Amino acid sequence: MACTPLTGDGVVWSAAASATTGTVRPPPDMTKPLLFTPIAIQGVTLKNRVVIAPMATYSAVDGIAQDFHFAHLGRLALGGAACVFVEATAVTAQGRITNGDMGLWSQAHIAPLRRIAAFMKLQNVVPGIQIAHAGRKGSMQRPWFGNGPLTAQDLARGEKTWEIVAPTSAPMADGYIVPRQLSVSDLTTLKGQWADAAQRALEAGFEILEIHNAHGYLIHQFMSPLSNTRTDAYGGDFAGRTRFPLEVAEAVRAVWPKDRPLFVRVSAVDGLDGGWTLTDTVAYAKALKARGIDVIDCSSGGLFGSATAARVKRSWGFQVPYAERVRREAGIKSMAVGLIIDPVFAEAILQKGQADLIAIAREALVNPCWPQMAEIALGRDASDAMDDWPVQYGWWLKHRERSIAQIRADEAASAKPGSG
Ligand SMILES: Cc1cc2nc3c(=O)[nH]c(=O)nc-3n(C[C@H](O)[C@H](O)[C@H](O)COP(=O)(O)O)c2cc1C
Repeated sequence: MACTPLTGDGVVWSAAASATTGTVRPPPDMTKPLLFTPIAIQGVTLKNRVVIAPMATYSAVDGIAQDFHFAHLGRLALGGAACVFVEATAVTAQGRITNGDMGLWSQAHIAPLRRIAAFMKLQNVVPGIQIAHAGRKGSMQRPWFGNGPLTAQDLARGEKTWEIVAPTSAPMADGYIVPRQLSVSDLTTLKGQWADAAQRALEAGFEILEIHNAHGYLIHQFMSPLSNTRTDAYGGDFAGRTRFPLEVAEAVRAVWPKDRPLFVRVSAVDGLDGGWTLTDTVAYAKALKARGIDVIDCSSGGLFGSATAARVKRSWGFQVPYAERVRREAGIKSMAVGLIIDPVFAEAILQKGQADLIAIAREALVNPCWPQMAEIALGRDASDAMDDWPVQYGWWLKHRERSIAQIRADEAASAKPGSG
């Protein structure tokens, strides 16, 4: 694994991270960091507050997880996070963003996911999975082929297009496939499909489930006044636009056991004139709480363009204020995500009561050991910490620590005036 090497003298944060974020060592008297204090949510105890956020890899075949997923998620599970989320997993084939999306629309999808969840549990990691439906953002190119509508070139490569569905027949933008507007009876069927996917996630052994309400996908399309211009009971005012999202939450909660946490990821703001606002999110979070949702995972944007198209200005922890307001005003646990890569900063978010959990995404691709290294950066003795690492790594690295300390001591001694 691409871990940052330790220096042996307790200065352990990566050069890259300290160069980009100015990470400083914590004061020596720092008590046990909140980031590494367990937290219980329903019947599940997370060993710390670090969660690896869902990250789509667009590498499934007919929705089925491959060896790549096992290696990718396994690598993340070895890094010390309390929970690792499997990427956005489509509840129907129609609800895929790309041909490579993961799915849970049939029993055939369960077995490879069960193997991944079982491996995570062996590593003392809580397995999580996000279930999703792309709505009008379906049948698109994989990001590295352009992130747009599928072209003749994509079809020649073997990609297939399919009919897509949405709250209305308005495409995301000119040139994108025109969706079919969902009827009320389609919505009833879809609710059942969300519940069925949740049931399969349970059969696969997942312990935390997240419903994807963000980034411009189907549920977000219902929520935002910019994408939901329906005139029936599923559109119009806030109550109408949140009707289907809340019905999905209820349908999923009904099959997802009460003792297993259920998260909802929201785009807390559209970042667009006349769009969904943070005040809407707080009201929505209260409604979700009343329906038994445990955690609101606060992302933003994505209604038009790519998943998280930058409608909101980027800065360190730019979405933390959303998690803070939801937590304070809706009285529900929140998860902060987005450009959190400095452990001292992550700890401060928890200390200030801005969120209950910290989600890490891209930084875990750079350094899957981020949680392990963060714990040492926040003051835990490296050698002690390594006792909690997978023994296949920790045992060797603990011994290397001693060697490095000896080398340093020898170097210091030989550098003394008069020596040698
Ligand atoms: C490769 C990649 C795939 C992603 N896929 C998903 C996804 O499946 N579901 C989702 O809600 N967010 C997805 N995201 C967004 C991340 O979960 C996260 O919110 C975002 O990257 C910001 O966090 P970060 O700054 O720690 O990377 C993805 C991000 C990346 C980089």
